[in-house]
Amino acid sequence: MQQVEFDDPLCSQTTLNGLVYDWSYQFLTPDEIKSFAKKRLPVHFKQARDALLTGTYSNPSENREVTHVLSRSRHSVLREGDKSKFAKIVRKLRSGKWLGATGKPITDIVNIGVGGSDLGPLMASFALREFATDIHEHHVYTHFVSSMDGGQLYAVLPICDPETTLFIVASKSFGTIDTFANVDTAREWMLEAFEPLGLDASDWFEHHIIGVSANAKKMDAYGIPAPNQLVFPESIGGRFSLWSAIGLSIATTCGVQVFQQMLEGARLMDEHFASAPVDENIPMLMALIGVYNREEREINNLAILPYDGRFRMLPSYLQQLDMESNGKQFSYTNQTIDRPTGPIVWGGFGPNGQHAFFQHLHQGYDQFTADFVLVLHRTDKRFSKRVQTALAEQQRLAVANCLAHRRLMAFGSQSDTPSEHYPGGHPTSLLALRELTPESFGAIVAAYEHKIFVQGLIWGLNSFDQPGVEQGKKVALDTFRALHGESLSFDPSTDAIIKMV
Ligand code: F6P
Repeated sequence: MQQVEFDDPLCSQTTLNGLVYDWSYQFLTPDEIKSFAKKRLPVHFKQARDALLTGTYSNPSENREVTHVLSRSRHSVLREGDKSKFAKIVRKLRSGKWLGATGKPITDIVNIGVGGSDLGPLMASFALREFATDIHEHHVYTHFVSSMDGGQLYAVLPICDPETTLFIVASKSFGTIDTFANVDTAREWMLEAFEPLGLDASDWFEHHIIGVSANAKKMDAYGIPAPNQLVFPESIGGRFSLWSAIGLSIATTCGVQVFQQMLEGARLMDEHFASAPVDENIPMLMALIGVYNREEREINNLAILPYDGRFRMLPSYLQQLDMESNGKQFSYTNQTIDRPTGPIVWGGFGPNGQHAFFQHLHQGYDQFTADFVLVLHRTDKRFSKRVQTALAEQQRLAVANCLAHRRLMAFGSQSDTPSEHYPGGHPTSLLALRELTPESFGAIVAAYEHKIFVQGLIWGLNSFDQPGVEQGKKVALDTFRALHGESLSFDPSTDAIIKMV
């Protein structure tokens, strides 16, 4: 049975504005981190980091620069403050001043998008919705629809009124089939209600749709009027775009001020990444430890285990951010790579995971590493003191369980009885916040962006393209044609299933 002892447990922590990164349970000491950095950081690291932070880093395969960091400042959708088109649209929607075709205020906003046009906005909206300060008598509800099967529309359309519903079509390319399959159904739903009222598609476009894309021409061609378009630079990658106009649904959920605070938190992490020494630099520590676990400890996966429910979408978001960036076996110059690169990222909400997959983590065969994400204190003045006291006790319970399980994963629990033996020896890190705020949320997300960038540099990858998603789309067009009756043959299994439809 695997047995790994921590020689002499250390307390290795670094902090930034109330965020503690604790890497005590990793198998790299502060001294070893420095030598590992010397060994593994490329000679051009500093230049590459500066290029990323100034928006001049090159994404060669897509022939563009990488500028998502600028969306916290120079490219910010709020750089003109209240005069920003983004801010005006949000305020008009949240105050009930945006009227539908029949003159009623919009009450429901449906963000239709997928991948980076869904995961980041969904995660941030879920995490930060309680911080909205611009409370109006009028309330808008923001819903998220992404899956091509229409699964979410089955749930959302029945609770919305076409006369008071607005769709945000969020798509950088403005061409993703998943998104437009949902838009087509939404359009049928809307027009079916409008026709008896003597209304038509032009009313849909004028009052009930906002396009968010890097491709203004396609939004024009689709029929979305310019006042209802938000355009962001092509140089902002989809999975890095929640800070851009793609974050419209975050702002419609949480208000402009919270969105701005989230950007500010990310910007402070950018500054930290730019200036902190490697053994105090949170993104660099995360990156180097991840490379060490991948290469030296041959751990091929990373579990994201949030212990505060507001972070429960974080694992799904980081799956795209990490695996679509560094899940590659070809280099920045398109040469084959024959050694490990980005890990498989998985995870789930920690407290509930204790009743689902923690058995495997504690007594299973496989190696894993994990990032625990913990919030120490939570207050919410919407509740009475009495209820707040009870809720605070629950937060303490979650903290206790997080600390207990990460200890058990690290140190194990020895027993000669196999079923009572916990081998331990699993390296994990902890990201702990004193309290969740929009700023600390933005900082954590930015830390992961920079971690993934540093790992891509170390592994010699281009972390900003995603060629591996294209072939599947091509094959799906053929199977979709076959399902519509075209006589196409694939393989006996696929052909048999198609015949069954
Ligand atoms: O999965 C491929 C991908 O291009 C992602 O990188 C992107 O976030 C998603 O599809 C959605 O793309 P778009 O925002 O262009 O609709």
